[in-house]
Formats: sequence, C-alpha cells, structure tokens
Amino acid sequence: MNEHEIRKSFPILHQEVNGHPLVYLDNAATSQKPIQVIEAIENYYKKNNSNVHRGVHTLGNRATEAYEGAREKVASFINAGSSHEIVFTRGTTTALNLVAQSYARAFLKEGDEIVITPAEHHSNLIPWQQAAKATGATLKYIPLQEDGTVSLENVRKTITHRTKLVSIAYVSNVLGTINPIKEIAHIAHGHGAILVVDGAQSTPHLKVDVQELDCDFYAFSGHKMLGPTGIGALYGKRKWLEKMEPVEFGGEMIDFVDLYDSTWKEIPWKFEGGTPIIAGAVGLGAAIDFLQEIGMNEIAAHERKLVQYAFEKLEGIDGITIYGPRKGRSGVITFNLDHVHPHDVATVLDAEGVAVRAGHHCCQPLMKWLNVTATARASMYLYNTEEDIDRFINALIKTKEYFSHVLG
Ligand SMILES: Cc1ncc(COP(=O)(O)O)c(C=O)c1O
Repeated sequence: MNEHEIRKSFPILHQEVNGHPLVYLDNAATSQKPIQVIEAIENYYKKNNSNVHRGVHTLGNRATEAYEGAREKVASFINAGSSHEIVFTRGTTTALNLVAQSYARAFLKEGDEIVITPAEHHSNLIPWQQAAKATGATLKYIPLQEDGTVSLENVRKTITHRTKLVSIAYVSNVLGTINPIKEIAHIAHGHGAILVVDGAQSTPHLKVDVQELDCDFYAFSGHKMLGPTGIGALYGKRKWLEKMEPVEFGGEMIDFVDLYDSTWKEIPWKFEGGTPIIAGAVGLGAAIDFLQEIGMNEIAAHERKLVQYAFEKLEGIDGITIYGPRKGRSGVITFNLDHVHPHDVATVLDAEGVAVRAGHHCCQPLMKWLNVTATARASMYLYNTEEDIDRFINALIKTKEYFSHVLG
C-alpha cells in the first residue's frame, strides 16, 4: 500500500496547525474521514434521504436499501454468519451496554461471575459494574502480567465454573496489546461462559473474523475506522440475540401492538427502536469499502512497520517511559516524559502541529495499575507516514529541551 497516495483522499490532513503541517496521531480517539465517506453521506442526503422500513415510495426504498446494504457490508467485513447478527448501535459503548442490560440482566444471578481485566476502557468496565450490582453477580479481574499483557495462565486461573460472562478488549487503547481472543473464547466456553469482545481498537486495524474468534458478542465503533460518529455495531450470535429482550422500545422495533401488550420484530430490528442512524450506516458502508480496497492485512503491516520505526527513534531519547510490551502491539504508543505532565507534552506538541492524546484515556484503573495519573499517547493509522513519525520525534525532543530549560 502507498500511504502517500492514501493521504490524498483525506482533505483534513492537508492543512497547517499552529503554522506547521498537521501530523495527526490521535487515531485511537477517532480517525479522519476520506472524501469517499464524506461524499457518500452527502449523496445520501442530496438524493436518497427518507425514512427506512416505512414508506413504499421510491426514496423510502432507496434509503432502506442503503441502510440494509450497509448492514450486509458490516457482516461481511467481520465475517458474521448472517447480517441478521448485526445490530446497528451508536458505537462500542452502546453496543456493550446493550449486552450488559439485555443479556447479563436476563441470564446472570447472584453467585455468578463476570470476568474482565484492569486494562479495560470504561465502556467495557462500568456496564459490567452496573450489571453486577443489578444481578448480584461478582466482578472479577484477570491479573495483568508485568508488561501489561494478559497470559492464558492467568485467564485459566480466573475463569471458574461460576463464570458466566467474560468481556475483554481485542486491542488495548492504552497499551496497544493484542489479546489472544480465540484462546480466551475456548477457555470461557470450556466453563460454559460466553465471551464479549470490545473491538473498538481492533476492527479499524486488523482483519477480524468473528466466527474464527468464536466470540459470542463483538462491539465496535464506525468513527475509529474512517466512518462517521454516531454509528457502530454489535455482532451477536443468533442463538443469543433471539433469546434477548430489547432495551429500547417504541417505533420501528415492533411487530403487533395492543393496548396492554406488544410483540417485537425479528432480529436484528427488535434492537433498533426509533428512526435509525441511516446516513451514519451509509458512511460506515463507504468506510468499509475504502478499507477493503486497501486490505486489512496491508493496513496492519503498515502500522506494525510505523510502530517499530517510532520505537527505534524513541529509544534513542533519554527520559522517556513507554508503557506496555515492546513487541506484539498495534499502532498505539503510550508514554511519559520524565518530570513533565503529559498535558504539557501534548500542548507543546500541538504548538508544533502534532496532535496526540493526553490524559487517562478512559482507563482510570489501568492508570492506577501503571502508577501514573495520566500518560501521552501517539496512535497511528493507514495515512500516517515515516515523515509523520520524524516530525513527532523532533517535536518531542524540542519539548524535552524546552522543559529541561524551564525546570532547570
Ligand atoms: C478500547 C475501547 N473501548 C471502547 C471505546 C468506546 O468507544 P465509543 O466512544 O466509540 O463508544 C473506546 C474508545 O475510545 C476504546 O478505545
């Protein structure tokens, strides 16, 4: 793949920020959008806008086709068995909350265990805290190894015959670690537990096959994979989705409505109450087309190369702590500069046109585990280049010099 060619499709990247060409390294928070996605949304609103599954008129049919066509694209992108197993949601957070509210509250009871890790994003932690409180189940944590990775030995030690549900991120948004999902699914199923995967940081960057992973649920967001904000998806095995109750009730999701009782549509529509995010789904479909044209394996290889390049350069700078393992990670580098608050690091980098994230990254328990209050994070995507990494490293060296001067 040619990242220089790819960049041409991203209008936002071609601007100056604070007098410097923009280097965007905050992709784990959200990705930029190619012109193909922007135009797909524009085209939808200009030519096809209408509500779905209602009117029999031409625009209504076109909108329904566009919306359901996007569902087919999502299903094929993650290799779901059927598009009926794809529920459109607002994003990963809503998808995980749907499982926690519908599946967990129906199937978990006092004495059961929910197993997660201390490295989870708040979106894959708080819904389980709430589900545990509502059902009387116990929340248990798989301990992390010293480098922040999850070992299968620790997974085996934590999951017991009481475990009913395991939920874990495929890729950590802080450490960049890639968890052995297939093996974890095997261990969980061996104990009769289901596996939920937070795919927010994996779906944009790796080839994902939910059938091969054998997870029961898989959640992700469109905005981190070139799509618009406000759209994401929950994959669920048909056998679970069919048994689950909706969590939102109203228009669109019903079959028959009586004064005192109602019945629901079949899956996935029973989970999509109200007018759905039609233009968002269309934009996500266009994003999937864009990613597939390049190839997910090519994108993953490009990011691996960039991360290695960045690591080599970073290791040449004194006074930098990098968190997480050196190898086997995705395009996320979380770090701190000695004696400088990460917000200050990010502010000076921004003055140089380099956008990185600083803070707790919605992972407060993991920050505690790392023994820090916050970190800085540079995260890459398919349009980043070695020149971007050079600009980031040079800006970091400048930051270090500036603060060593200020701090004496
Ligand atoms: C690992 C992980 N899980 C969940 C989320 C939540 O995604 P969203 O805010 O799109 O719902 C994020 C977003 O940063 C994430 O990185």
